[in-house]
Amino acid sequence: MTDRLTIKRPDDWHLHLRDGAMLAAVLPDTARHFGRGIIMPNLVPPVVTSAEVAAYRDRILAQLPQDMNFTPLMVAYLTETTEPDDLAKGFADRIITAVKLYPAGATTNSASGVRDIMKVQPVLERMAELGLPLLVHGEVTDAEIDIFDREAVFIDRVLDPLRQRLPELKIVMEHITTKTAADYVKVGSENLAATITTHHLMINRNHILAGGIRPHYYCLPVAKREEHRLALRQLATSGFERVFLGTDSAPHPDSAKLQPCGCAGIYTAPNTMSCLAHVFEEDGALAHLEAFTSLNGPRFYGLPASDQTMDLVKGDQPVAYPDAIAAGDETVTVFDPGVDLFWRVDKVN
Ligand code: NCD
Ligand code: ZN
Repeated sequence: MTDRLTIKRPDDWHLHLRDGAMLAAVLPDTARHFGRGIIMPNLVPPVVTSAEVAAYRDRILAQLPQDMNFTPLMVAYLTETTEPDDLAKGFADRIITAVKLYPAGATTNSASGVRDIMKVQPVLERMAELGLPLLVHGEVTDAEIDIFDREAVFIDRVLDPLRQRLPELKIVMEHITTKTAADYVKVGSENLAATITTHHLMINRNHILAGGIRPHYYCLPVAKREEHRLALRQLATSGFERVFLGTDSAPHPDSAKLQPCGCAGIYTAPNTMSCLAHVFEEDGALAHLEAFTSLNGPRFYGLPASDQTMDLVKGDQPVAYPDAIAAGDETVTVFDPGVDLFWRVDKVN
């Protein structure tokens, strides 16, 4: 039985760090394990220009504990008035690593997102020339489309036409949740990749809704049927090169989640590596964990894999991690995978 594993240090290719007291509270949970993170720009107001991106990066680095090393890879929030020249300069200055497309209204803090994708066509053309990746929140927002169908409809109506107009554009389908998306990325070109979250490998929609409503399992895109979870697991654990970890760790204060209209987001940073080792072992795929967490992402982004390593150890007692962390005057509930976890991060070397 395998009870020890050494992998290259993981990176998180989709992460929400927020700002202020929340940033200070959650950053160590990520930086303890992950070498780099693709930092989502959906603050209020959103992080749009290269100057705003640089200022946000500086605020993150200012909160990083002295004894930790972590590189935030910054993302600009795409709006219908984004200036192509500003992105090009931010990319040349190595401030901007990617650009995020939020369909307006799709998720938390996405009101400034894109309503009409044709309005950003000139920006996307410039990005394709530069090799600057577009990260997409792949859900349509039309009120008449059922929330469980929004990802599949987005692929048909928005993503596929976009890829035909601009095959040279590098695109990451963020936090995919359906078999439809898993199949779509598999047959895609070298310019297409996808991230998968920790929680979408472990929960389906029953976890949210059966036997009582569980706000801490509510995120966007919402978890789907079991057949979709199984398709995501199959893809993640297969070692397939164009899919990699994006935890979408998205902290919200409990006071904002536990409401008649609670917000979307699951906080998975503290126990993600324990969860993933559990999932990959269950599927007989521990040999592919490193590809998913540490190799495939850097390859797609054209970056070297980490020169550090992480040791994971499997014990015979369940791993202890907090139910919640403090953030200023608030608490943030940590993802409960619903099973005991036995793998823990021993150290990062
Ligand atoms: C994210 C957040 O809270 O910022 N929420 C979520 O449910 N994933 C936004 C997002 O990534 O969609
Ligand atoms: Zn997210």
